Amino acid sequence: LTSGTGDDGTSLSRKRLLELGLALPLPLLLGAGAAPALAATPACDDGDETPEQTEGPYYTPSSPRRRSLLAAGVPGTTLVVTGHVLRTDCRPVRRALIDVWQCDAAGVYDNDGYRLRGHQLTDAQGRWRLTTVVPGVYPGRTRHIHVKVQRPGGTVLTTQLYFPGERGNRSDRIFDPELLVRRVRKAPGRWTAQFDFVLA
Ligand SMILES: [Fe+2]
Repeated sequence: LTSGTGDDGTSLSRKRLLELGLALPLPLLLGAGAAPALAATPACDDGDETPEQTEGPYYTPSSPRRRSLLAAGVPGTTLVVTGHVLRTDCRPVRRALIDVWQCDAAGVYDNDGYRLRGHQLTDAQGRWRLTTVVPGVYPGRTRHIHVKVQRPGGTVLTTQLYFPGERGNRSDRIFDPELLVRRVRKAPGRWTAQFDFVLA
């Protein structure tokens, strides 16, 4: 296997590629003509923590412990989000706290009770699983879910999750593509998606 060749004809060493942030596998870099497929964005392998975002005005502490926020009288498209809580070295975090709150399909938060609010703990493999409804949108924001994540003994990470392909993502002032849920599948009445949180 030879190394890549720069525009000026000089050989680009693997080390130089790494310096340039182009640490793709060489076969991808050298692939003739074909655009390299995007890597499947495992969030832990670049060492970056999940970005923080504002809590916003609608957090209520002490939500019930439950993995499903579906209840009688909560209409909407079912949404199942699965993923992990990981450290920056990709080790899974067991018993990490995940506290979720969101608006309903009409864009309304329950600020009196705990409708569409709940917390859970990751399992021994650091996995979490949320069953809820696809949140609606409300003025000034794109579609999002609020989350607080905390590993045992760690500080609280407050953030928000977003959905790809939303018109509002372009105009929402705090939208962050790092926080897009991944592998979204939209079947009639049911969406699924994945997201891995990465904690320091
Ligand atoms: Fe919100």
